[in-house]
Amino acid sequence: MLLAVSGASGKTGWRVVQEALSRGHQVRALARPGSELPAGLEGAELVRLELSDGPALALALSGCQALVIATGARPGIDLTGPLRVDAWAVSSQIRACEAVGVNRVVLVSSLCAGLWWHPLNLFGLILVVKRLGEQALERSSLAWTIIRPGGLGEAESDLEQQTIHYSNADQQQDGRIPRRLVAGVCLDALDTPLSQSRILEITSGTPAEAASGETLASWLANNPERPGNP
Ligand SMILES: NC(=O)c1ccc[n+]([C@@H]2O[C@H](COP(=O)([O-])OP(=O)(O)OC[C@H]3O[C@@H](n4cnc5c(N)ncnc54)[C@H](OP(=O)(O)O)[C@@H]3O)[C@@H](O)[C@H]2O)c1
Repeated sequence: MLLAVSGASGKTGWRVVQEALSRGHQVRALARPGSELPAGLEGAELVRLELSDGPALALALSGCQALVIATGARPGIDLTGPLRVDAWAVSSQIRACEAVGVNRVVLVSSLCAGLWWHPLNLFGLILVVKRLGEQALERSSLAWTIIRPGGLGEAESDLEQQTIHYSNADQQQDGRIPRRLVAGVCLDALDTPLSQSRILEITSGTPAEAASGETLASWLANNPERPGNP
């Protein structure tokens, strides 16, 4: 498929691009006009735009079958960043997908999205605002999956020893996961119809720490949606 990835200059985004290319997809990598590009984007078609530019966004998404949203406010002194990026820019992307017929969207959100009492909220109420972005996607006409990873890591040396612990919404509050594994789960979700209309929390660890060790498809088959998971 032709897959668009927004936030492609970010540390999760470029790995989603790489993972998609390695699985045989064509990729349109969306980045801001001023984004510094990491090395991992070779092989993707690069489109630079502001996500607030509706016509440019619609054009960038035209012809794509799916979008992975890996944007997120970068920590800084501007406390409006989360609202602008994690709520408004997510909503812009959803509207553009609906306008041009991109029906499938995977959103990288965060563990604890929706919590009010959490130290991370010192940065622009980010967890509250992330839930607004999630809700915009849930209310859309799109086929959606929301991935809520734990704390993100860069290490890639022991990926083979890591197993992923999946859960439904609001089940995990702690734990970490390498960005490379998050990228893989985003692509797995696109291949797994059972992941549609699901919020999936993911952390990882050694098999002793992370009990599951299942693939996403088998975990979803064994864990139907529970009441309260939208
Ligand atoms: N860090 C964690 O431990 C953690 C944990 C759970 C969930 N998450 C979430 O996971 C996602 C990926 O995180 P990450 O740390 O891998 O990302 P990251 O490296 O911080 O990259 C963020 C991406 O979003 C883009 N972006 C920021 N502001 C933007 C704007 N106004 N308009 C358009 N694009 C904008 C950045 O573009 P530029 O390169 O141009 O700045 C970059 O491509 C984020 O949603 C994050 O909140 C993070």
